[in-house]
Amino acid sequence: MPVIALQGVRGGLGTTSVTAALAWALQQLDEPVLAIDLSPDNLLRLHFNTPFELDRGWARAELDGTGWQQGAMRYCKKLDFLPFGRLNAAERLKIRHSESGTAQRWQDFLAQLRASGHYRWILLDIPAGDDPQIEQLLTLADQVFLLLSPDANCHARLHQQPLPTGCHLLINHYSSASPLQQDLHQLWLQTLAGLLPLVIHRDEALAEAMAVKQPLGEYRPESLAADEVLTLANWCLLNLQDAEV
Ligand SMILES: Nc1ncnc2c1ncn2[C@@H]1O[C@H](COP(=O)(O)OP(=O)(O)O)[C@@H](O)[C@H]1O
Ligand SMILES: [Mg+2]
Repeated sequence: MPVIALQGVRGGLGTTSVTAALAWALQQLDEPVLAIDLSPDNLLRLHFNTPFELDRGWARAELDGTGWQQGAMRYCKKLDFLPFGRLNAAERLKIRHSESGTAQRWQDFLAQLRASGHYRWILLDIPAGDDPQIEQLLTLADQVFLLLSPDANCHARLHQQPLPTGCHLLINHYSSASPLQQDLHQLWLQTLAGLLPLVIHRDEALAEAMAVKQPLGEYRPESLAADEVLTLANWCLLNLQDAEV
């Protein structure tokens, strides 16, 4: 049961959308998957048709002192998701400060999931950043997919911010019409270890999928980006099964 964390080198790169899309692609390949929102943005749920008003989620339950371990919601037969939950600013601060106990609960929860054999894959939607709490969340994962867009901002960040050890780099928002993007992509192919052998193109289908509250592959299975995310799911099956412990 590989645990894959997805994180952007900065916010807004498509981490949450790609987490939802990859979860959909894995279940399409008959692989049971749980997608977990570890980002206080609490947006992953909106890719799975959750009513905006619903405040339910693991961090909400953690603050209310109720158990969240059974709180995953079913989207379809082989795809469950666990929302972060709606918190106000003061509550978000509180959950950050209680993180050390929470981290242990996450370790235990993932161990239970492994033992249950219920899921073949766990996906973690992790917020951008490298503060100690986020680093702790990253240690829950066997693999990290770090999202990048081929732009100068991401290129600079690759050289000035620490990257998760051994991470796989995943290009999203690729536009082959842009000479700068083509150049950066070529440079990265030659210089970056860990670059995944596929890109996800900038595709209106991805933007629209969130607007209709569906994962990409359900909304537009014939789109280029859906095909690329399906390729990513197949890459996971071929390359990450050994991460099983
Ligand atoms: N490949 C893409 N093509 C077009 N729009 C995209 C693509 N990937 C993400 N988006 C859009 O970009 C915005 C930010 O995506 P999101 O997944 O919320 O990013 P993050 O979680 O990294 O902050 C959303 O409106 C989403 O629909
Ligand atoms: Mg996000």
